[in-house]
Amino acid sequence: MKKKITIIGAGNVGATAAHWAMARCLGDVVLLDVMEGIPQGKALDLWQSGPLDNFSGKIIGSNDYADTADSDVVIITAGLARKPGMSRDDLLAKNVAIVKSCAESAIKYSPNCFMIVVTNPIDAMVYTAFKVSGLPRHRIVGMAGVLDSARYRTFLADAIGVAPQDVSAMVMGIHGDNMLPLVRLANVAGVPVTELLPPEKIAEIVKRTQMGGMEIINQLKTGSAFYTPGLAAIEMAEAVIRDSRRVLPCAAYLDGEFGIRGYFLGVPVVLCARGIERIVEFSLMEEEQRALNESVQAVAKQVEATGL
Ligand code: LAC
Repeated sequence: MKKKITIIGAGNVGATAAHWAMARCLGDVVLLDVMEGIPQGKALDLWQSGPLDNFSGKIIGSNDYADTADSDVVIITAGLARKPGMSRDDLLAKNVAIVKSCAESAIKYSPNCFMIVVTNPIDAMVYTAFKVSGLPRHRIVGMAGVLDSARYRTFLADAIGVAPQDVSAMVMGIHGDNMLPLVRLANVAGVPVTELLPPEKIAEIVKRTQMGGMEIINQLKTGSAFYTPGLAAIEMAEAVIRDSRRVLPCAAYLDGEFGIRGYFLGVPVVLCARGIERIVEFSLMEEEQRALNESVQAVAKQVEATGL
C-alpha cells in the first residue's frame, strides 16, 4: 500500500525533505505549515516537477492537520532556525512550544506514526515530542547523527581523496559542540582513517564536524543548513518505509544502553518498519564514554529547561 509522509514546517528544511521524499518515491506527501499559502505553493511547485524527474507521488500543502490523517511517518521540522551568534540552546524556549503543539496535533490524526524530530535543539525537542505524543520509544527519533556523520564523512573523503560513499564513519552523542565523531571506527572500505591521515588533520576534521552547523550559519547569516538536514531526515524515513534495516545514527531514547537512562542521544540504531528494531550497543573506550557522558550532561540541562 502507498505510504503517507507528513512534513510539518514548510521552511527550508521541510521543503527540502519534501523534495527528497518525492524524488525517492516514498509515497504521498503532506507539507504542513501554519503560514497560509506557503505549503500550498511549495507543494504545487514540487508536484509539477514529477514529469521531469519521473516521480508520480502526490504532494499537497496544507494548514489543517486533518489532511495529515493516517500518516506512516511524521517529520517535524517546524521551529525557528539558528542565526549567527545563537546557540542551539537559545532556541529552546520558543521551539518547545512549537514542537509541543505540532506533536500533539499530529498524533491525534496519526496515532501509529513513526515520528522524526528535526527541530533544534534536537535532543531536547525529540524528548518534548516523546512526552506529549505518548509514542513508544521505538516509534520516535531525532535527526542529527545522519547529518553530522555525513559532514564528517565528507571532510574525511575530501582530505583522503576518495569517494564519500566509501567512507564509513559515525558521530554519536548530542547535536551540539560536545558531539562525538568517532575516530577509532572511521574507515575507508575497512582501512582505518588513522592509517590514512596524520593525527593533526583528523583532529582538525573532528573540530570542523563539531562546528559544521555554525560554519554554514556564519555564511548564510539569516538561517541554517537545509540541504543535508532535509535529506538526512528522508534517509531515516526511507529506512522505515522500505523496512530496510539500515544502521543509522539517530537520537534514540536510552534506557540503560551505553550506561545512559532517560534521555535521547545519538546512537547507532537499526531502522525497520517497526521503527527502531534495536540500538546497536558496543564497548566504548574510556575517553569516548567520557565524551558521551559530557553529551548527556548537556542534554540533561536542555531537557530540564523544557520544563517537562
Ligand atoms: C546544523 C544546525 C541546523 O547542524 O543545527 O546545521
